[in-house]
Amino acid sequence: LVPLARPALAQSWPSRPITLSVPFAAGGPTDVMARLLAQRLAVSLGQSVPVENLGGAGGIVGTEKLSRARPDGYTIGLGHMGTHAANPAFYKSLPYNPLTDFEPLCSVGTNPMIAAARPGLAKTVAELRDWVAKNPGQLTLANAGTGSVSFLGGLLFDRVISARSTMVPYRGAAPALQDTMNGVTDAIVDQAVTVIPQARGGTIQALAVAMPQRLPQLPDVPTAAEAGIPDFSIAVWNGAYAPKGTPEPILAKLAEAFSAALDDEALSKQFTEYAVLIPPRAERGREPLRRLMQAEVPRWEKLARDAGVEKQ
Ligand code: MLT
Repeated sequence: LVPLARPALAQSWPSRPITLSVPFAAGGPTDVMARLLAQRLAVSLGQSVPVENLGGAGGIVGTEKLSRARPDGYTIGLGHMGTHAANPAFYKSLPYNPLTDFEPLCSVGTNPMIAAARPGLAKTVAELRDWVAKNPGQLTLANAGTGSVSFLGGLLFDRVISARSTMVPYRGAAPALQDTMNGVTDAIVDQAVTVIPQARGGTIQALAVAMPQRLPQLPDVPTAAEAGIPDFSIAVWNGAYAPKGTPEPILAKLAEAFSAALDDEALSKQFTEYAVLIPPRAERGREPLRRLMQAEVPRWEKLARDAGVEKQ
């Protein structure tokens, strides 16, 4: 029965809402991108696309749930360089395998990271270094949990400013950023998508952009090299995934729907405002995302090993 049922299922798909899972708290970078994409997916697929947030453990909780979801095209999700590449390097027994438990659908954008401090702590990296020198080992870095990209960016930043920081985990970058804005934690390395609006509003002090060029959205914020930390370079790729075993015709439709969403003029304008770089068509499909992950998983294993990271 099953082989007969599958084409029938694929033909009538989608006949009900499609859940887009986000393995981090609402209001964070992954969530912001998911909600913008969901609006366009809903139009092109003719069904509503509710976003479901399930944060925790560096994205593991929600990503594991996605890996175990029924592979019928009604549950899909976003993941990124942390959940789908770096996490195996940080955990002894990750409850999913990014390379074998998912069907990659589409790369959905790359976002630079920005180091930012709580208001009043420091206006520049040099000032932060002075503070660290006067308060050795006291800096707290908020992040979305071990293996999340705010954690990876935080580790790198800690290293380049030699701070020996304490990493403070949250269920997503949104509560981590919020606590830094409120002065509960000292600093954060987060994606541009959520730092830009806060830095513009003055609720957080952006210190350095982790890329070679300044961002037009934050023209006064120096690049890492200008701030004296040239090795602070990190950008986050994001991808859309379905659980392994989702029927081929549904995968093809989903991949095309994501790609069409990225071509949407209004979405591309919003992504550009948030400094999310949309991959060209040739680099965003299922195979390019699979190849990216095949390169990224061993790259992070090596980076973590070379950095002496002990898996937890
Ligand atoms: C989020 O959406 O909360 C972030 O992508 C989490 C992270 O820093 O990896």
